[in-house]
Amino acid sequence: MPASTSRPTIGRPSIGRRSLLGYVGTAAVGTAVGVGAGVTGARALDDTASPGADSTTAPTGLGRTISPWGRHQPGVAAHPGAVTELVSLDLHARHHRAGDRDLLGRLLRVWTSDIEALTQGKGTPGDTAPWLASADADLSVTVGFGPRLFAGAWDLPAPAGFAEVPAMTHDRLEKSWSGGDLVLVVSGREGSTVGHAVRRLVADARPFAQLRWRQSGSWNPYDPQGRPITGRNLFGQVDGSGNPQPGTDLFDQTVWISDGVWQGGTTLVVRRIRMDLPTWDELTRSEQEGSMGRDLATGAPLTGGRELDDVVLSARDGGRFVVAPLSHVRRSHPSTNGGRRIFRKAANYEVSTGSEMEAGLLFQSYQRDLSDQFVPIQRMLDEGDELNEWTTAVGSAEFAVLPGFARGEWLGQGVLDG
Ligand code: HEM
Repeated sequence: MPASTSRPTIGRPSIGRRSLLGYVGTAAVGTAVGVGAGVTGARALDDTASPGADSTTAPTGLGRTISPWGRHQPGVAAHPGAVTELVSLDLHARHHRAGDRDLLGRLLRVWTSDIEALTQGKGTPGDTAPWLASADADLSVTVGFGPRLFAGAWDLPAPAGFAEVPAMTHDRLEKSWSGGDLVLVVSGREGSTVGHAVRRLVADARPFAQLRWRQSGSWNPYDPQGRPITGRNLFGQVDGSGNPQPGTDLFDQTVWISDGVWQGGTTLVVRRIRMDLPTWDELTRSEQEGSMGRDLATGAPLTGGRELDDVVLSARDGGRFVVAPLSHVRRSHPSTNGGRRIFRKAANYEVSTGSEMEAGLLFQSYQRDLSDQFVPIQRMLDEGDELNEWTTAVGSAEFAVLPGFARGEWLGQGVLDG
């Protein structure tokens, strides 16, 4: 489907695996620059290139306008923004008692028009600082429903397999970072635009819902030349290489719900994972690489090749597996998990209260079926992953991500009517 229609689909990658998919796949609107023009050929694969960067790609770090319209909410498959805010809200208790779908529909209609305005650089009704809205800000807003909306008086139809993530032995969950009835994933190229969007969306939800938690993090999605790259977590690892690539059948099968009223939607697990940077820093480089199974500098598998190459789990060196039995990539790899996959996104966080520091990853996992994909992989990691030594989940929440909407429709319309 041409990118100029109001119901774009995520296109097949014709310009290298990672290049620009978040943009060519979502119709550019407003003043978007035609970055796709003239971009051809395979991505650069020399070892000196930044992980994930495509040297044939024109600079893209300048920011685009991501169309809010489409079969899917565009933020899921879009290249990660430099700033991401995850916001969870709780519907007021009286609304839960009533289970009033019309009321929920009112909130979703308000959010729909807010999202349409904000992503195109316009203020929202009643906005006291519309100048903070900015087009070409890579802004996307993704909305989802928490578990309580599929119970009690609401009784909305849930996506298949949607359930709360069961407790894991390594979890140290804090209520203040867990749960919620509604999620907003707001992502963009810089914090002021993203923060403004969050403020407007939360303010407009006030008659219906109040803030439960808000977490913000950053990512490094472009190299210094402005080319899209995979990005690194705070351990310094290239993080995201093994993901199914947006625009491929594998991605579609992994992520999108393909039937019923949730068709075009997905599910999201958010985990706030604390990372113990001081003890990680005490390891040698080869210990760090061994616990992961990938090279720190390039992100390539320890079995050789380049960043986006798959690991060869059978490879041995003197009788021992090159990719250690309890390394993170072996334990999370599809072949260790009955072919199960997830699509991960992440944002790094570092917060301090006085001299107390906390750092970690705002981990996001998208999958069609939460119980059949995320949970078994998470269990496999809980039961044996070297990384558990330095990582601890302190927050957890799950949401059913609504299908996208076309111009003239509103977010969640099909689900509420269904
Ligand atoms: C702070 C915690 C975590 C860190 C630092 C981390 C880091 C990484 C890194 C560096 C890779 C290799 C590059 C890549 O393929 O992206 C990776 C792969 C992967 N991780 Fe994690 N991860 C964390 C938590 C998790 C969790 C909670 C899950 C799922 C429950 C998970 C699932 C996966 C999967 C499925 C892969 C791809 C394996 C493959 O196909 O090769 N990770 N992770």
